[in-house]
Amino acid sequence: MADIADHYTSGKLLERLNAALKSDGADPEHPTIEALAPYDQFHGRGMEATEEIAGLLKVAASDHLLDVGSGIGGPARYMSHRFGCKVTGIDLTAEFCDVACHLTKLMGMEAKVDFRQGDALAMPFADGSFDGAYSMNVSMNIADKLGFYREIRRVLKPGGWLMLSELAKGPGGPLDYPTPWAAAAAESFLATPEETRAGLEAEGFEIVKFRDAVEDMKKYAVRVKTMLSRGEKNPHHAVQLMHGDVAEAASRNTSRGGAEGRIVPIEVLCRRKVA
Ligand SMILES: C[S@@+](CC[C@H](N)C(=O)[O-])C[C@H]1O[C@@H](n2cnc3c(N)ncnc32)[C@H](O)[C@@H]1O
Repeated sequence: MADIADHYTSGKLLERLNAALKSDGADPEHPTIEALAPYDQFHGRGMEATEEIAGLLKVAASDHLLDVGSGIGGPARYMSHRFGCKVTGIDLTAEFCDVACHLTKLMGMEAKVDFRQGDALAMPFADGSFDGAYSMNVSMNIADKLGFYREIRRVLKPGGWLMLSELAKGPGGPLDYPTPWAAAAAESFLATPEETRAGLEAEGFEIVKFRDAVEDMKKYAVRVKTMLSRGEKNPHHAVQLMHGDVAEAASRNTSRGGAEGRIVPIEVLCRRKVA
């Protein structure tokens, strides 16, 4: 577990983020959701995927959501801003939690959005605390998938929903490392789409929607390539922020893995069964 937090820890995240914001002409002391969007969404297709996932959810302003593996809090702030709801994030990586709290305070959102450092497999929340939960690109770091689903189920209210997006194991063979989520194969735990579906059902969830986002990933890659060829900025710069020098190799291995069917992005909306 410590290896996983180490993989994400650079000690330089805030410095890199502030430099990136300044080079965009934004004020690091007054960040906005729009200014942070290229940097604070640590998952494939960045803000585009977050907006799309939010569009699948029904959230009331009175709801309290859980963000499992919340990174530096981009998705949590976006959900709270969009729905007016409370969001609590939990993440293993202390540096990410510190930056998440820092940005949320600068944006004046701390009454609605908070973060705890901790392990998704043993969360410091009472049973039935949350109306809904989501987890974006986190499960690839978690070997005990059934324990992960069980722990999320425990903290959801009966009938509460879970939105899971992850990179699943595809039929195209093993990946090369590093990737954005793992320095080496020993830190990466990919399940096939079928294993994910069966695991969620075994732990008391009913599947509401299950889709693969392969085509979205391919179209996004083409769009970014076109933007870069026109000299425009990359709309998603999170891997560079997290991993500095290793980012290029990590991004290349992921792109190739997607193109060769070694990984398959999936999105699953499911609901905690009532009985
Ligand atoms: C690729 S990042 C995604 C962050 C965030 N969900 C986002 O999309 O911006 C994966 C995150 O999962 C966190 N993580 C990995 N294993 C975890 C665990 N067992 N418990 C809590 N967080 C974990 C990492 O610290 C990292 O922040």
